[in-house]
Amino acid sequence: MPADTGTGRNLTGLQIERAGWRDVRKLTQLDRRSFKPIDAYAWYEFFALCMSRSVIALKALSADRLIGFIAGDQRRSEGHTIIVTIAVDPDYQRRGIGERLLREVETRSALPRLQLMVRQSNLPALQLYRKLNYDIVDTWRRYYEDGEDAYVMEKSLTPQPPLPT
Ligand SMILES: CC(C)(COP(=O)(O)OP(=O)(O)OC[C@H]1O[C@@H](n2cnc3c(N)ncnc32)[C@H](O)[C@@H]1OP(=O)(O)O)[C@@H](O)C(=O)NCCC(=O)NCCS
Repeated sequence: MPADTGTGRNLTGLQIERAGWRDVRKLTQLDRRSFKPIDAYAWYEFFALCMSRSVIALKALSADRLIGFIAGDQRRSEGHTIIVTIAVDPDYQRRGIGERLLREVETRSALPRLQLMVRQSNLPALQLYRKLNYDIVDTWRRYYEDGEDAYVMEKSLTPQPPLPT
């Protein structure tokens, strides 16, 4: 059972904080629990994400337990922030934590466009991105190691100009 005392979507005391190198071991454990082995990152990749000044690396905590993580890499030369990874502990999914993390990166991003890649079969993630108005802009064939295609999704944070009347 999760240690949380809240019920349904009312997770008590959820905190979103910047992740640092001290979190690397817990981030690696979270990743192992949330992703299939083929998609898991190595510990040194989390270390690099947490240490990079261009990366918005955020952890979600409930009662001091690390239950979510997101990393958004602000790539100025490409004009967008890439969501490198997002994961919520399986015991805490469907309680609004993934949505909170993604919205937080959007708020903190210095760049006006967000981009991400997602497996075509990853319905929970696709639903999350659609809910937050990410559009499919491309398909990258055999992007993943096992040959699955990726959708490339984007969201513009700047308001679109009104249509001419
Ligand atoms: C994708 C993921 C981060 C979502 O996190 P979460 O905290 O469970 O998502 P939330 O509770 O914030 O859900 C927000 C919205 O996403 C959609 N969603 C999330 N999980 C869903 C599911 N299992 N089925 C359908 N829709 C889902 C819903 O639209 C939901 O809004 P709603 O609750 O109002 O219907 C989580 O499922 C996860 O960690 N998956 C494994 C790692 C992964 O695949 N990461 C994405 C890589 S691209």
